[in-house]
Amino acid sequence: MSSRPASPDSTVELLVRDTPEEASREAARVLAESATNRLHIALSGGSTPRRAYELAAALLPDWGMASVWWCDERCVAPDDERSNYRLAREALLDRLVVPPRAVHRVQGELGAEAAAAAYEELLRGVRLGLAFLGLGSDGHTASLFPGSALLDGNGRSAAPVEAADVDRVTMTPAVLCAADTVAFLVTGADKAEAAEQAFAREPDPATPGSLIRSTSGRTVAILDRTAAAGLSRVAEAS
Ligand code: 6PG
Repeated sequence: MSSRPASPDSTVELLVRDTPEEASREAARVLAESATNRLHIALSGGSTPRRAYELAAALLPDWGMASVWWCDERCVAPDDERSNYRLAREALLDRLVVPPRAVHRVQGELGAEAAAAAYEELLRGVRLGLAFLGLGSDGHTASLFPGSALLDGNGRSAAPVEAADVDRVTMTPAVLCAADTVAFLVTGADKAEAAEQAFAREPDPATPGSLIRSTSGRTVAILDRTAAAGLSRVAEAS
């Protein structure tokens, strides 16, 4: 069992597990707990969360109390292999015995601006219980990329994003930081530098992950040992 290294950024609770599987199991517990508590849960995409979603479905097959959202989405059709909705459908939603009471998919196929506007309508008056996030090796989270103007806040709850690979829609920092719980799942040695910047250095728009913190509740970063390598270094040095 692992230790919990101290970190200069006291606003983030660090949970370091020995392996990606153990980190995913910890993340699955956070997801299942939120689903039990009738919360609005926003999911992320990329490759890291798939195992956590599978374990969460096994841990809690009844999501009837929860409403599911996406922190971001690629502007593709829902059955496209790049779709964050498709990832969550395959790894979580299709494996549930009782589906969520609401599934609010980003209609990426509409194009970034129209999909963002439609999602903003859906988000009106909604406060997330859990924002479940990843971290890119460049420090981005959701589809908030380094230096993005969205990091300064523009009054929107969801916004279109032009990106190198495919346009996206992202929830904005205002919505993500208003969540009761912000939980990051980060695994792999290729994320060590970004994790150090995001969770052990001063908040910086060059590392959007360093700016997303629950303003009212809990912020937790769940990492495997390789992704946490930089954090241990910082803790030892401090
Ligand atoms: C996306 C995600 C994004 C992801 C990071 C990490 O749509 O790509 O929501 O923010 O969490 O890019 O992705 P990996 O898990 O694939 O490293």
